Amino acid sequence: MPNKPGAKITALGTYVPPRLLTNDDLEKMVDTSSQWIIERTGIRQRHIVDKGVASSDLAVEAARAALEERGIAPSEIELIIVATVTPDMFFPATACLVQHKLGCPGAWGFDVSAACSAFLYALQCGTQYVATGAHKKVLVIGSDVMSSIIDYTDRATCVIFGDGAGAVLLEPADGNSLGVIDYLHEIDGSGGCSLYMPGGGSLHPSTHETVEKKMHYVHQDGQAVFKYAVRKMTEVCEKLLARNGLSGKDVDAFIPHQANRRIITATGDRLQLRPESVIINIDEYGNTTAGTIPLAMETARQKGILRKGSTVLLAAVGAGFTVGATLLKWAY
Ligand code: UT7
Repeated sequence: MPNKPGAKITALGTYVPPRLLTNDDLEKMVDTSSQWIIERTGIRQRHIVDKGVASSDLAVEAARAALEERGIAPSEIELIIVATVTPDMFFPATACLVQHKLGCPGAWGFDVSAACSAFLYALQCGTQYVATGAHKKVLVIGSDVMSSIIDYTDRATCVIFGDGAGAVLLEPADGNSLGVIDYLHEIDGSGGCSLYMPGGGSLHPSTHETVEKKMHYVHQDGQAVFKYAVRKMTEVCEKLLARNGLSGKDVDAFIPHQANRRIITATGDRLQLRPESVIINIDEYGNTTAGTIPLAMETARQKGILRKGSTVLLAAVGAGFTVGATLLKWAY
């Protein structure tokens, strides 16, 4: 198993659009209550873009913040990987739009589509490019404008999602023990029917009919995803910790995908994590899909538990199904 880091995170930037959609607002839009939303999901508010603002715009803001923190120019970036399920367009890739808007003339890049696990998959792609020596400065960005694919008359989905982005810079680990240590990813396509957007692809190209049938929105079997998420998030984390000789108590910061507060606390209990290590910010942002993990990294940092040498466990489960966990030592 790889346990000597090849790459480390050297900067973090996040961005959410300023406009809020609160539980009170949703009470006026669908048959729901703020109490139900808080009790069943933990969410109090989400940030939502104004019309005309796309995933690349959030990605660029987050990336700029990361570059500023590191004090480097966009021209130094060699590779841009964007995790998103809401690209500005089917093509070109959002990475191309980010490269142009951010001004990284020497960079190449691509998008990763793995829904809620996409940031972890993109992080691992970036890590490999750095670990092999191919690149020295890689931007990994998770950005989603979920409000662009949500049916705001469907109470089962519209209360959950929000818009947001986060970016990390990856650089060589320089042979010390800090950086990305190990990962465990799985996909299970038999779960594809539990969470998906049926319209607009090659199977159901956009027509008046696909619009009328609301096929361009998120469709979710919430309970099926919930059960799978609790089981698999625990399972991959347990395996990843065990093969690195660690237990839940060794984790300084558990930074999971923010889909539902109950999924996170159930996973935390099963892994016997120290409660103060479990990062939850879903109350502020809702589920921003690829944005949740870097946004939660920022929350962990503000809480003071993301320090040089901290043992960090990242985990996600999402549409696909996709599953991922990453173990790292925070490097700065
Ligand atoms: O990040 C992508 C991965 N996604 C996830 O991980 C999501 C996982 N699933 C969940 O988080 C939860 O299943 C939901 C939050 C989506 C739903 O919570 P739940 O506790 O599983 O509710 P449910 O679907 O079992 O519905 C329970 C009841 C139903 O009413 P009846 O049939 O018992 O009368 C629903 O119609 O709650 C009702 N309900 C609502 N009531 C008020 C569903 N949505 C709402 C709502 N407001 N927004």
